Amino acid sequence: MQDVRRRTRIGIIGAGPAGLLLSHLLDKEGIDSVVLESRSRTEVETTIRAGVLEHGTVNLLTDMGLGERMQREGAVHHGIELRFDGEGHRVPLTELTNGRSIVLYPQHEVLKDLIAARLEQGGQILFNVSNVRLADITSTQPVVHFVHEQQHIELQCDFIAGCDGFHGVSRSTIAATDHNVYSRNYPFGWLGILMQAPPSAQELIYAYSERGFALVSTRSPELQRMYIQCDPSDDIGNWSDERILEELQVRLATRDNWQLRVGPIVQKSILAMRSFVIEPMQYGRLFLAGDAAHIVPPTGAKGLNLAVADVRHLARALALFYRSHQTDLLEAYTQTCLRRVWRAEHFSWWMTSMLHRFPTDDAFGQRLQQSQLDYTVRSPDAAASLAENYVGLPFDW
Ligand code: PHB
Repeated sequence: MQDVRRRTRIGIIGAGPAGLLLSHLLDKEGIDSVVLESRSRTEVETTIRAGVLEHGTVNLLTDMGLGERMQREGAVHHGIELRFDGEGHRVPLTELTNGRSIVLYPQHEVLKDLIAARLEQGGQILFNVSNVRLADITSTQPVVHFVHEQQHIELQCDFIAGCDGFHGVSRSTIAATDHNVYSRNYPFGWLGILMQAPPSAQELIYAYSERGFALVSTRSPELQRMYIQCDPSDDIGNWSDERILEELQVRLATRDNWQLRVGPIVQKSILAMRSFVIEPMQYGRLFLAGDAAHIVPPTGAKGLNLAVADVRHLARALALFYRSHQTDLLEAYTQTCLRRVWRAEHFSWWMTSMLHRFPTDDAFGQRLQQSQLDYTVRSPDAAASLAENYVGLPFDW
């Protein structure tokens, strides 16, 4: 194998939403970067994830000239439904947030757009890299070692952005003694499906029922995304299509006989749920962003949006550093990000706690959940708080 030495300003580990958007933001500031990704381009572009884009995320992508297909194919939503006790209650997001809304546009479609635009601009994204190892991160010349197309590459950088997700190598480079971890595991997971059927509703439905949580979301006029709460250690083989459909129908049933529109299930899988935050999000010249630094349960639809906010801060901090050698924003990176991260952690935990059945919960716990749901839909102030968090607080909040 050939040994090669290369140099860039910012080494970006991971071609997910955080890494790819960061490469775009840096490029706009004239700062060069190289993105490294262990998966293939096809895998990145086809892995199914969530699809709710906050108001601020939509504006940022649009302002950067990356939102053309999102504007065309994404669906603007002005409300969500909370369903419990056999009744649906609309939370009018736009009305409660001074005109803000969300856009449903799947994460992998965002990634396709970011990859295509970056490659078109001559940006460097290396897929299928292996043996990624970070070194000298406390020096001013950190290095990323990796293998790509039969070459062992030593990439010298000024800074490294760890955007490689929860299981990536970046976070594990920081010694356990140099950070704190805050986490919570939930005693349930989500069984997610894709169904070939027309939409059953115009807006997302978050349902609380005796049998557990259910969520009706959408991908396109022909393809629907739905989830049901399940045992996180369950085997997907135990879930026949008939059983999934029946559970959805029971959990979503209303007193006025609402009907789920059904069709063939074309994909199904079980996802674990957890909350996780590492502090600080920086160590030496390694800056963590997105899932590498924090995980939220998907009930609040915040994952991608938090990644976007992180890299927006990071790009601004790096721009200031290269423009005027000021390190203030870089030093404030953790603190700046954590305010939003913990708000999203709380909101996601709150939505999760309100909407799921906890195996250990007694009748008292269930009454509390019902009271919280009732309050949320009956009090305009409570609904406004949900709405503000759901559409996303401003970046510089
Ligand atoms: C999705 O469409 O996949 C989705 C929507 C809302 C959520 C989570 C996932 O809260």
